[in-house]
Amino acid sequence: MLVPILTLLLATSAFSSVDVRSRIDCYPDPNPSSDACSARGCIWENVPGGSPTETPACYYPRERGYVLKSSAGQTYTLTPDSSGLLFADKYIQIATYLPSANVFGFGDHVHKQLMRDLTRYTTWPMFARDIGPDSESDLSTQNLYGVHPFYIAMEADGNAHGVFFLNSNAQEVTLGPAPHLIYRTIGGRLDMAFFPGPLPEQVVQQYLAHIGTPFLPAYWALGYQLSRWGYDSLDDMKAVISRVQAAGVPLDIPYADIDYMNAYKDFTEGDKWADFPNYTDQLHQQGLHLIVIFDPAVEVDYDSFKRALQQNATFIEWSSADLVPHNVQDQYPMAKDTLVMLGNVWPERNTAFPDFLDPTNQTTQWWTNEFVLFHQNLKVDGMWIDMNEPSNFDTDTYSSVGSNLATAHLSCPISGVAGQLDNPPYATRAVYNHPGEYLCSKTLCMLGKSARRTMNFFDTKSLYGWSESRATNAALRQMTGRRGAVISRSTFPSSGRYAGHWLGDNTARWEDLQTSVINVMDFNFFGIPYVGSDICGFNGVSNEELCLRWHQMGAFHSFSRDHNIKGAPAQDPAVWPSVAAAAKMALTFRYYYLPYLYSLHYASSRYGGTVVRPVFFEFPKDSTTQKLDYQFMWGSGMMIAPAVYQGVSNVHAYFPQATWYSLIPISYGIVFTPGYHDVYAATDSLTPVFLRGGYILPRQGANTTTTASRKNDLEVIIGVDPSGGSNGELYYDAGDDLVDDIESHKRHHWLFSFTYTSTSAVFSGLCEKCSDVDIPPLSIIEALGYPATPDFNSFILNGNKVNINVQLSSYSAITKRLFINTPKLIGLRTIASPF
Ligand code: NOJ
Repeated sequence: MLVPILTLLLATSAFSSVDVRSRIDCYPDPNPSSDACSARGCIWENVPGGSPTETPACYYPRERGYVLKSSAGQTYTLTPDSSGLLFADKYIQIATYLPSANVFGFGDHVHKQLMRDLTRYTTWPMFARDIGPDSESDLSTQNLYGVHPFYIAMEADGNAHGVFFLNSNAQEVTLGPAPHLIYRTIGGRLDMAFFPGPLPEQVVQQYLAHIGTPFLPAYWALGYQLSRWGYDSLDDMKAVISRVQAAGVPLDIPYADIDYMNAYKDFTEGDKWADFPNYTDQLHQQGLHLIVIFDPAVEVDYDSFKRALQQNATFIEWSSADLVPHNVQDQYPMAKDTLVMLGNVWPERNTAFPDFLDPTNQTTQWWTNEFVLFHQNLKVDGMWIDMNEPSNFDTDTYSSVGSNLATAHLSCPISGVAGQLDNPPYATRAVYNHPGEYLCSKTLCMLGKSARRTMNFFDTKSLYGWSESRATNAALRQMTGRRGAVISRSTFPSSGRYAGHWLGDNTARWEDLQTSVINVMDFNFFGIPYVGSDICGFNGVSNEELCLRWHQMGAFHSFSRDHNIKGAPAQDPAVWPSVAAAAKMALTFRYYYLPYLYSLHYASSRYGGTVVRPVFFEFPKDSTTQKLDYQFMWGSGMMIAPAVYQGVSNVHAYFPQATWYSLIPISYGIVFTPGYHDVYAATDSLTPVFLRGGYILPRQGANTTTTASRKNDLEVIIGVDPSGGSNGELYYDAGDDLVDDIESHKRHHWLFSFTYTSTSAVFSGLCEKCSDVDIPPLSIIEALGYPATPDFNSFILNGNKVNINVQLSSYSAITKRLFINTPKLIGLRTIASPF
C-alpha cells in the first residue's frame, strides 16, 4: 500500500501556483471572488480552457500546512512549516494525494459509475437528509439519507486499501484529478482509520472489524417482499397479496405502509384495518411474515407520547426555555411546559422526536414498551423505520407541504449566538446545493439538544437513524423474542449491526434501475449487506418492461421488495402476466439458492465482508473488472449480469479469468470462456447467472415461501475447476432464533470439498459445527464440468458402498453434467466415485 501524503491546510498567504489538476479549493463556499480569495491568503488564478470540470479558481498554495510522511518502519512524522496549526471555527480540512484514481465508496449518494469519477472536481456532501436517489437530478452530488465517510482505493498493482473518517457532523469530500481528495467537516474531531487490505474484500472485513459486523437477518427476511404506499384499506392489501400468490410468485413478506395507522400515528391502527390482527394470523399460518412501517416522530396528543413523559423518555429539545415557541406549544396540553422541539412529519401535525441517544436508556425502554404493547394486538415480525434523518416537512427555510398546515412551523434561529449552529461560517454543500436553505432545512434546529441534553443536534443529527435502528432492534428482540429484521432509511457506520436498508425513494426509470445496482454494492462496502431498491421504482409510473427487468435484477439483492408511491398505479407482479412469469422464474431461482445467500450473510455477520460484491473484489488484478457497474457477484461463487437497459435481449457481459458455468436454462452447464460475451437475456428468460469453477454452492428445492422451501431436501452444485479442487460451505440454523453471539450460535456449518484424480473423484462434507438444529437431508449432488463417466454402482459413502438412485441420476459426456440423486444423506462425510 502506498502511504498517502496528508496535508492539513490552513488559512495562508499566497505562494506559487499549482497545477490545475492538483488544486485544493480555498473557497468552497458559494460566490468565490478574487478579493475574497486574497483575503484568505490564497491564490486566485482563472481556470484555463481545457481544465478538468469544476477546477477551483481560488486555491491553497502548496507549501503551507502540515505534512504527514512515512519514514522507515511504521513511524509517521507531522512536520509544520512556517505556518501554525489552526483549526478554524467549525472547519477542519485534510487533503491527500491518492495512489490511484480508482476510488470506490463514500455515501450516501447516487453515482452513475461504481468507480468515483476523479477526472474532474466533484464535491460530495455527507449529512443525513430526506432526499431520494434521483439519478437524473441536476444536483448530481446530492447528499441522501445516510452518511458513510469510507472509501476503498484500488492501486495499480491490484492491491486495495481503505480509509474511514469517523465523524457525525455535516461533512463533505472533494474528489480531484491529481488524483486527490479533500475532506472537510464542520465539527467533531478528525478520527481516521486506515485498512491495509491488500484484497478489497479484506478492506471491508477490516473496516467491519472496526465498526461492527452486520446482523444476520431471519431466513424468511431473504424472501420476496411486497409493499406499496396507498392501500385504501386492508381489503386492498389483501386483494393484492392474493393475486400475487395466485400468480404463483414466491412471496414471504407483505408490507403495510403508513396507511394502516390511525391518522399516521405510530402504534395505532385505522378503522379500515380492523381485521389486521386476524389477517396477520392467516399470513402466519401460510408461512408468511409481516413487516409494517413506523416513523420516529410521535404526535404530542395521544397515549404513546403521554407514556413517554410518564416513563421519563427524552425528545429532541430546545436548548433553552426562552426559545420555545409558546404560541404553538401551549396549544398542546401534553407538550405545554416542556422543552420538546415540535415538528411535523408523519403525522403532519405536531410531533416530537424521540431522543434515541438518551444515555439512560429510558427512551429506548419506552420505545420498546410501545412495541410490546402494539404487538399484543398485531403480531408484526419486523420493522420498517422511515423518515429518520430525521425528516421534518416544514421549517422556516423549507416546506414540502405548503402553508395550510394547522401545525407547528418550525423556526430555527439563524443569527446571533443562537444562530451559530444553523448558520455556521461554512455550511457544506449539503446546504449550498439548496440556495436559501440552512442545516435545519427539512429537519430540526441544529441548536436542539439530544443525548438527554448533553449534545447539540448539530453534532448528532446524522446519528439519528443509527440510534433509532439500535433502539428498534432492541425492541424487536423483546417484542417477538425472534430475530426478524429491521430496515432503516437513514444509516451511519455500524448501522448494519442493527438494520438493513432500502435505497429510498427512487423513480420508475431505467437510470434508477441501473444506479440501484451500484448503490447496493456501495452499501455492502458500508457493512449493510441487507439492502435493495424499491423494485419497479417508487416515484412515477412504472411500466411492464421496466418492472419486469427490475424484478429480474432485484431477485439478486438481499433485500428484495417491490414498493411504490401513493397515487401511482399498482405495480405488483400480478399486474402484468409477463412480469408475474419473469418474477416467478427469477424468485424461484433465488429461493433455490437461498441457503447460499444465507450462508453469505452468516459469513458477513461473523467475519465481516460483503454479500453482494463487485466483480473486481474477486478479480482485483484484472483492471477491466473495476469498470463493471452492473455486474456483480454473490460471494465468490456466483456472478450475475442483469439486463438493465430498455429493449435489449442480450447482456454484454464480461467473464474474468475463471471457468464460468451458465445456470440459465437455455445454456445450462455451458462454459463461458474469459472475455466479453453477448449472453441471451430475453425478457422471458432467467437473468444471466453463472457458477464459478472451483466453488460449491448449497441450495434447496424452492417453494413459494421460505417456510415451505425449508422443508425440502438440500442439494449442492459443484462448479468443477479443471485446474484444481472446489470448495464451499453451508450455514444452516433455525432461521429466526435470536443471535446473541454469532460464533457460538446453534447451527450446522458444513465445509464442502471436491477433488478428483485420473481414476476417481471425491466429494466430502465436513461438519465444522453441528448443533442440535433440524436440517433437511442432502439428496442431490450436481457437478458441472465433471471430468469422466462415473460408475453409479460403485459410489462409496463414508467408506461404505452406497446405493445411488440410478434412474434419477445421470451423466452426459457431452455437457459434462453429473446429476446424482442419492439416498438422503444425513451426517454426510465423504462420497467417492470411481470413473
Ligand atoms: C417515505 C419512504 O421513503 C417511502 O418508502 C414511504 O412509502 C413513504 N415515506 C410513506 O411512508
